[in-house]
Amino acid sequence: MSYPIVILGSGRGSNAEALLQSELNKKLGLAKIAALISDREDADILSLGQKYKVPAIYIDAGCESDHLTNTAEQVYIERISSFSPKLIVLAGFMRIINSPLIDAFKGRVINLHPSLLPSFPGIDSIQEAFEYGVKITGCTVHWVTPELDAGPIINQKEVHIDESDTLELLTRKIHVAEHQLLPEVVSHLSNVN
Ligand code: GAR
Repeated sequence: MSYPIVILGSGRGSNAEALLQSELNKKLGLAKIAALISDREDADILSLGQKYKVPAIYIDAGCESDHLTNTAEQVYIERISSFSPKLIVLAGFMRIINSPLIDAFKGRVINLHPSLLPSFPGIDSIQEAFEYGVKITGCTVHWVTPELDAGPIINQKEVHIDESDTLELLTRKIHVAEHQLLPEVVSHLSNVN
Protein backbone atom coordinates (compact mmCIF):
# COMPACT_ATOMS: atom_id res chain seq x y z
CA MET A 1 0.00 0.00 0.00
CA SER A 2 1.37 3.42 -0.80
CA TYR A 3 0.47 6.76 0.70
CA PRO A 4 1.69 9.51 -1.67
CA ILE A 5 1.86 12.99 -0.20
CA VAL A 6 2.33 16.38 -1.84
CA ILE A 7 3.90 19.21 0.17
CA LEU A 8 3.09 22.87 -0.49
CA GLY A 9 5.42 25.56 0.88
CA SER A 10 6.48 29.13 0.23
CA GLY A 11 9.78 29.50 2.05
CA ARG A 12 12.72 27.77 3.64
CA GLY A 13 11.21 24.31 3.52
CA SER A 14 12.74 23.13 6.79
CA ASN A 15 9.56 21.20 7.57
CA ALA A 16 9.49 19.68 4.09
CA GLU A 17 13.10 18.63 4.72
CA ALA A 18 12.14 17.11 8.08
CA LEU A 19 9.57 15.01 6.21
CA LEU A 20 12.05 14.05 3.47
CA GLN A 21 14.64 13.06 6.09
CA SER A 22 12.06 11.04 8.00
CA GLU A 23 11.16 9.18 4.83
CA LEU A 24 14.85 8.47 4.16
CA ASN A 25 15.22 7.17 7.72
CA LYS A 26 12.10 5.01 7.29
CA LYS A 27 10.28 7.00 9.98
CA LEU A 28 7.38 8.21 7.85
CA GLY A 29 5.19 5.12 7.96
CA LEU A 30 3.74 4.30 4.55
CA ALA A 31 4.06 7.92 3.37
CA LYS A 32 6.09 8.72 0.27
CA ILE A 33 6.73 12.31 -0.74
CA ALA A 34 5.56 12.55 -4.34
CA ALA A 35 6.18 16.25 -5.01
CA LEU A 36 7.06 19.65 -3.60
CA ILE A 37 5.05 22.60 -4.87
CA SER A 38 5.67 26.29 -4.25
CA ASP A 39 4.04 29.59 -5.16
CA ARG A 40 7.48 31.25 -5.04
CA GLU A 41 9.89 30.54 -7.85
CA ASP A 42 12.92 31.33 -5.65
CA ALA A 43 11.75 29.49 -2.51
CA ASP A 44 14.39 27.30 -0.87
CA ILE A 45 11.86 24.48 -0.57
CA LEU A 46 12.19 23.92 -4.34
CA SER A 47 15.92 23.29 -4.07
CA LEU A 48 15.13 20.23 -1.93
CA GLY A 49 13.76 18.55 -5.06
CA GLN A 50 17.20 18.03 -6.55
CA LYS A 51 18.75 17.06 -3.21
CA TYR A 52 16.14 14.37 -2.48
CA LYS A 53 15.25 13.44 -6.09
CA VAL A 54 11.62 14.54 -5.80
CA PRO A 55 9.73 16.65 -8.38
CA ALA A 56 9.79 20.29 -7.29
CA ILE A 57 7.33 22.52 -9.08
CA TYR A 58 6.71 26.25 -9.08
CA ILE A 59 3.12 27.28 -9.78
CA ASP A 60 2.31 30.97 -10.10
CA ALA A 61 -0.35 32.10 -7.60
CA GLY A 62 -1.71 34.57 -10.15
CA CYS A 63 -1.49 37.57 -7.82
CA GLU A 64 0.67 39.18 -5.18
CA SER A 65 -1.91 39.07 -2.38
CA ASP A 66 -2.45 36.38 0.27
CA HIS A 67 -4.56 34.00 -1.84
CA LEU A 68 -4.55 32.17 -5.17
CA THR A 69 -6.58 33.46 -8.11
CA ASN A 70 -9.39 31.13 -9.30
CA THR A 71 -7.38 30.27 -12.40
CA ALA A 72 -4.27 29.51 -10.37
CA GLU A 73 -6.27 27.40 -7.95
CA GLN A 74 -7.46 25.23 -10.87
CA VAL A 75 -3.85 24.77 -12.00
CA TYR A 76 -2.89 23.79 -8.44
CA ILE A 77 -5.74 21.25 -8.36
CA GLU A 78 -4.66 19.70 -11.68
CA ARG A 79 -0.98 19.48 -10.81
CA ILE A 80 -1.62 18.11 -7.32
CA SER A 81 -4.12 15.56 -8.72
CA SER A 82 -1.53 14.27 -11.19
CA PHE A 83 0.34 12.77 -8.18
CA SER A 84 -2.83 11.05 -6.82
CA PRO A 85 -1.97 12.11 -3.27
CA LYS A 86 -3.64 10.63 -0.21
CA LEU A 87 -2.52 13.68 1.76
CA ILE A 88 -1.61 17.29 0.97
CA VAL A 89 0.61 18.96 3.56
CA LEU A 90 0.71 22.75 3.88
CA ALA A 91 4.15 23.35 5.40
CA GLY A 92 4.68 27.08 5.42
CA PHE A 93 2.39 27.70 2.42
CA MET A 94 1.62 31.38 2.89
CA ARG A 95 -1.54 31.60 0.77
CA ILE A 96 -5.12 31.17 1.86
CA ILE A 97 -6.58 28.04 0.28
CA ASN A 98 -10.13 28.43 -0.99
CA SER A 99 -13.06 26.04 -1.23
CA PRO A 100 -12.38 24.63 -4.73
CA LEU A 101 -9.04 23.20 -3.61
CA ILE A 102 -10.31 22.11 -0.20
CA ASP A 103 -13.33 20.41 -1.86
CA ALA A 104 -11.17 18.75 -4.53
CA PHE A 105 -9.17 17.04 -1.78
CA LYS A 106 -11.81 16.78 0.92
CA GLY A 107 -10.44 15.52 4.23
CA ARG A 108 -6.96 15.19 2.79
CA VAL A 109 -5.37 18.61 3.43
CA ILE A 110 -3.46 19.33 6.65
CA ASN A 111 -1.73 22.51 7.79
CA LEU A 112 1.16 23.15 10.15
CA HIS A 113 0.77 26.26 12.30
CA PRO A 114 3.35 27.78 14.71
CA SER A 115 1.12 28.26 17.76
CA LEU A 116 -1.20 26.27 19.96
CA LEU A 117 -4.42 26.91 18.07
CA PRO A 118 -6.98 28.32 18.65
CA SER A 119 -4.54 30.85 20.16
CA PHE A 120 -2.73 33.13 17.73
CA PRO A 121 -4.16 32.14 14.31
CA GLY A 122 -3.08 33.95 11.12
CA ILE A 123 0.40 35.28 10.43
CA ASP A 124 3.17 36.38 12.86
CA SER A 125 1.88 33.89 15.43
CA ILE A 126 5.24 33.32 17.10
CA GLN A 127 5.83 37.04 17.58
CA GLU A 128 2.27 37.58 18.83
CA ALA A 129 2.59 34.82 21.42
CA PHE A 130 6.00 36.18 22.49
CA GLU A 131 4.76 39.76 22.80
CA TYR A 132 1.59 38.68 24.62
CA GLY A 133 3.79 37.07 27.24
CA VAL A 134 2.26 33.60 27.28
CA LYS A 135 4.39 31.05 29.11
CA ILE A 136 3.48 28.12 26.87
CA THR A 137 3.07 28.15 23.11
CA GLY A 138 3.92 25.54 20.48
CA CYS A 139 2.73 24.19 17.17
CA THR A 140 -0.36 22.55 15.76
CA VAL A 141 -1.21 20.27 12.86
CA HIS A 142 -4.87 20.50 11.84
CA TRP A 143 -7.22 19.58 9.02
CA VAL A 144 -7.81 22.43 6.61
CA THR A 145 -11.36 23.78 6.37
CA PRO A 146 -12.59 26.99 4.68
CA GLU A 147 -12.21 28.89 7.97
CA LEU A 148 -8.58 29.99 8.42
CA ASP A 149 -6.59 27.97 11.00
CA ALA A 150 -9.82 26.64 12.50
CA GLY A 151 -10.11 23.04 11.27
CA PRO A 152 -10.09 20.03 13.61
CA ILE A 153 -6.80 19.67 15.47
CA ILE A 154 -4.87 16.45 14.80
CA ASN A 155 -2.05 17.00 17.29
CA GLN A 156 -0.01 19.69 19.03
CA LYS A 157 3.37 20.03 20.70
CA GLU A 158 3.98 22.54 23.45
CA VAL A 159 6.99 24.82 23.82
CA HIS A 160 7.73 26.65 27.08
CA ILE A 161 8.80 30.29 26.90
CA ASP A 162 11.59 30.93 29.39
CA GLU A 163 12.46 34.34 30.87
CA SER A 164 15.72 34.34 28.90
CA ASP A 165 14.09 33.54 25.54
CA THR A 166 14.32 36.09 22.74
CA LEU A 167 11.98 36.01 19.75
CA GLU A 168 14.77 34.38 17.73
CA LEU A 169 15.32 31.68 20.36
CA LEU A 170 11.61 31.00 20.63
CA THR A 171 11.30 30.77 16.85
CA ARG A 172 14.08 28.18 16.82
CA LYS A 173 12.45 26.19 19.62
CA ILE A 174 9.14 26.14 17.75
CA HIS A 175 10.84 24.96 14.57
CA VAL A 176 12.48 22.11 16.49
CA ALA A 177 9.06 21.11 17.83
CA GLU A 178 7.52 21.35 14.34
CA HIS A 179 10.22 19.12 12.88
CA GLN A 180 9.18 16.43 15.35
CA LEU A 181 5.42 16.94 15.26
CA LEU A 182 4.81 17.04 11.52
CA PRO A 183 6.57 13.75 10.64
CA GLU A 184 4.87 12.06 13.61
CA VAL A 185 1.44 13.17 12.38
CA VAL A 186 2.11 12.23 8.74
CA SER A 187 3.45 8.83 9.77
CA HIS A 188 0.43 8.22 11.98
CA LEU A 189 -2.06 9.24 9.28
CA SER A 190 -0.33 7.03 6.70
CA ASN A 191 -0.69 4.05 9.02
CA VAL A 192 -4.36 4.56 9.88
CA ASN A 193 -5.76 5.69 6.51
C1 GAR B 1 6.60 27.11 9.90
O1 GAR B 1 6.98 27.64 11.13
C2 GAR B 1 5.09 26.98 9.81
O2 GAR B 1 4.49 26.66 11.03
C3 GAR B 1 4.70 28.36 9.37
O3 GAR B 1 5.68 28.71 8.41
C4 GAR B 1 6.91 28.10 8.78
C5 GAR B 1 7.51 27.44 7.57
O4 GAR B 1 8.83 27.09 7.81
N1 GAR B 1 3.38 28.39 8.83
C6 GAR B 1 2.55 29.41 9.01
O5 GAR B 1 2.85 30.41 9.62
C7 GAR B 1 1.21 29.23 8.37
N2 GAR B 1 0.30 30.22 8.87
P1 GAR B 1 9.61 26.17 6.78
O6 GAR B 1 9.43 26.78 5.38
O7 GAR B 1 11.02 26.22 7.23
O8 GAR B 1 9.02 24.79 6.86
